[in-house]
Amino acid sequence: MTATRPAEVAIARTREELSAELDGLARAGASVALVPTMGALHEGHLSLVDRAHTLADAVVVSIFVNPLQFGLGEDLSRYPRELSRDVELAASRGVRLVFAPGDGDMYPEGAPIVRVKPGPMGEGLCGRFRPGHFEGVLTVVAKLFGLVRPQVAVFGRKDLQQAALVRRMERDLDLGVRVDVAPTVREEDGLALSSRNAYLSPDERRHARAFHRGLVRADEAFQGGETGRRALTSLVESEIRDHAGLELQYVELVDPETLVPLETAGRGSALAVAGFSGATRLIDNVLLGADAPDPGVGRPTSVERAR
Ligand code: PAF
Repeated sequence: MTATRPAEVAIARTREELSAELDGLARAGASVALVPTMGALHEGHLSLVDRAHTLADAVVVSIFVNPLQFGLGEDLSRYPRELSRDVELAASRGVRLVFAPGDGDMYPEGAPIVRVKPGPMGEGLCGRFRPGHFEGVLTVVAKLFGLVRPQVAVFGRKDLQQAALVRRMERDLDLGVRVDVAPTVREEDGLALSSRNAYLSPDERRHARAFHRGLVRADEAFQGGETGRRALTSLVESEIRDHAGLELQYVELVDPETLVPLETAGRGSALAVAGFSGATRLIDNVLLGADAPDPGVGRPTSVERAR
């Protein structure tokens, strides 16, 4: 990557530095779009940045590997941390400010005692396999909203459950941030971009394509008239079963906004899958039907409601 960093990109490592930068943006009358990340930026994150530019005057990217959302035995210690590369990439896409706090800046009093509970929407899908994960995600996202005070925040649809939960948290708690959900960016062979793809060996990477292939087969079947949950999920399961290196955790048909399980698919229903290729956990999903809207589009956030 040969991108050069434009002079106007700023890096805030502390709350004080963040405040000073945000004051500058406020004085200039700039609206702010936040793209929350855990770093190891890839084209998927950068597409969120591009989208954020269409929604506000200035784009802020947060980079924080949030210990609260990693369970025991998960990859917290080996999660890729590449700040200077991330800053170069963010700058090359016109990001105004990178907020990259340390644990002590994000959690000055240690692990927070008061946290955001996801409730029943956090119990199914990935929540079944990652206890405490979404509580950690919602807690840090609420803190980021409070620290950065953006007008809009952009999340990726690959993390379907996370996006639905953040939208719901925003409405339930009236956080005053418009939550935008952007389409998944894929490699040419369909694999959804993820920072965790970096863990895959070439063989695991090749096998991992089956997750998306299964979803495509199911989507084709849906477009051909198949709407039954069992038939659609079986198509994904059989694609994954053909690969010795893959282990399936779940394939589920759900409403993309409420995450309620469905027996019959309609246009825009989500088929979500999670599993392992080797030791790497991967997730993916498709909204059935070619022009399906993004999850959450149907219901306004608290900001849209107030207009
Ligand atoms: O999607 C992620 O990278 C993280 O879950 C998020 C939203 C940045 C919170 O830590």
